[in-house]
Amino acid sequence: CGIVGILGTEPVADDIVDSLRRLEYRGYDSAGVATLEDGQVTRVRAEGKLKNLAAKLAAQPLSGHTGIGHTRWATHGAPTERNAHPHTAGKVAVVHNGIIENFRELRDALSAKGVNFETETDSEIVAQAVAARMRDGLDPVAAVKAVIPSLEGAFALAFIFDDHPDLMMAARNGPPLAIGHGEAKGQMYIGSDAIALASLTNEITYLEDGDVAVLTRSGVEIFDAVDVPITRPRSISEAQVYAIDKGNHRHFMAKEIAEQPEVVGYTLARYIDLTVGRLAMPESPVDLSTINRLTITACGTAYLAGLTAKYWCERFARIPVDIDVASEFRYREIPLSPGGMSVFISQSGETADTLASLRYCKEGGQVITSVVNVPESSIARESDLLLPTLAGPEVSVASTKAFTCQLAVLACLSIVIGRAKNVLTEDDEDRLVTALVEAPRLMNDVMALGPQIEAICREILLHASHALFLGRGTNYPLAMEGALKLKEISYIHAEGYAAGELKHGPIALVDKDMPVIVIAPFDRVFEKTVSNMEEVAARGGKIILITDQKGADAVSSEAVSKIVMPDMPATITPLVYAVPLQLMAYHTAVMRGTDVDQPRNLAKSVTVE
Ligand code: G6P
Repeated sequence: CGIVGILGTEPVADDIVDSLRRLEYRGYDSAGVATLEDGQVTRVRAEGKLKNLAAKLAAQPLSGHTGIGHTRWATHGAPTERNAHPHTAGKVAVVHNGIIENFRELRDALSAKGVNFETETDSEIVAQAVAARMRDGLDPVAAVKAVIPSLEGAFALAFIFDDHPDLMMAARNGPPLAIGHGEAKGQMYIGSDAIALASLTNEITYLEDGDVAVLTRSGVEIFDAVDVPITRPRSISEAQVYAIDKGNHRHFMAKEIAEQPEVVGYTLARYIDLTVGRLAMPESPVDLSTINRLTITACGTAYLAGLTAKYWCERFARIPVDIDVASEFRYREIPLSPGGMSVFISQSGETADTLASLRYCKEGGQVITSVVNVPESSIARESDLLLPTLAGPEVSVASTKAFTCQLAVLACLSIVIGRAKNVLTEDDEDRLVTALVEAPRLMNDVMALGPQIEAICREILLHASHALFLGRGTNYPLAMEGALKLKEISYIHAEGYAAGELKHGPIALVDKDMPVIVIAPFDRVFEKTVSNMEEVAARGGKIILITDQKGADAVSSEAVSKIVMPDMPATITPLVYAVPLQLMAYHTAVMRGTDVDQPRNLAKSVTVE
């Protein structure tokens, strides 16, 4: 969920909605704003996207100079207007991001005292508990400070109070929260991130876990977890006012797919000295030659970039790589030997499970390396070695350009470790770097396949209910990524499988109604993958083969639709072959009429477990 708060000198509702627009990637189930109208909290909330809230506010404007706003990704309670934030009780209004895990217990205790709850959310308990303390006679600051220690779980909170137009409070335990400074002009702000506040201020103080902040128009006082006043660093944010602009594209996703040659090139240029064609990685806090094990942790698409890196690292650096999704990793209690390196991959840099895994590894004495697209994010800030992806803001919920930029960085990281460990020679480095530098041009060339891919999707995928994606080696994670993209945005059930596993189960599903997408460049495992493909063809399955000219020539079957890719070194196939898979998901979703950029039930940044 996204949070904004403004203590302003003019009506703040429009600025709140404007900031929420930049936070809509965190959820778009419902949204709301509350401001103080003549000293009283007054709310306007709407189910669905922010534009519904904006329309309601146009008809029913709010004029308060003190206000908070929220865009929601539902956890507890359906995404209805009644469950939308801000929540109010007594003289307080609150917006919440996260999950209050002990809310049932707290609710039962208050219900027993006769408090009535209006919603099914876990968040309302915060408003009700603070209101109860205020009824007991505590002032707003004391009431909030009394309630925070009783809350278990993850939260970022912002509060305003009846009759206190010069007061706003914030509290953080888990999800990030930034205080924006504008005291010089008599204004102060709260935001889920610096980007949300970019049009208001670039002076930011990030709260730490356990902090409670008390804001007035003349500044902020911060108290740590044991209520001791504390000064947190104030920094100048580099988040520019990003234009939320689709250019000539119909969707952000189309724009972001098309941007890939440019941003992958840009990212590679950060890690490769193009004048000499050698790696130019930032200095590592640990001697890379001593690394004998790597742990990679991430979620969703970022996890699949990590899985690709496992193949690279094991091959280029000959070190074992342990990889897991963050939600499993964080509770596995895996033994870590001091001095090992842990790599975290995240577009947003805020994914709660990934961040928790990072902290676990940090405590275990690991060197923390992160591959992150938002340089001011929590994961970036808590890392020892930050390797940013320079994809620029990714707006579409389904990740595309962040994924290929992650691959670019991870390829460089694998090569640099391989060099440090003397597994790769200088010549190997030259060869691999030369291959990587070719990727942007080839990605650009394959954009031209768009119309052909669209036609194949119309014929084969448009009316499908299921699809299987197959690949071997580094094309296995890519098969999973192709399936993930398709299911996320077209709602077609899709699975990615290692081609060799087909006969151990999924082949039972294959019939004429099950399209099978095979990713098979003409490489050392091509013949094996083609045998798996023949097993599908023999059972009447419709096949889309993504291969190169040699591969296409080797397969004569008429029953196979071929997408013919340019020739390229094996190292860069994951980057370049990602493009037709993204286009496949995109065109299928557009034809099916789904909400491509904001698919149902998903959020771009998941700051809850
Ligand atoms: C969500 C998004 C995915 C993303 C995943 C991990 O599920 O919808 O596109 O891959 O989170 O996010 P991160 O920001 O950590 O890369």
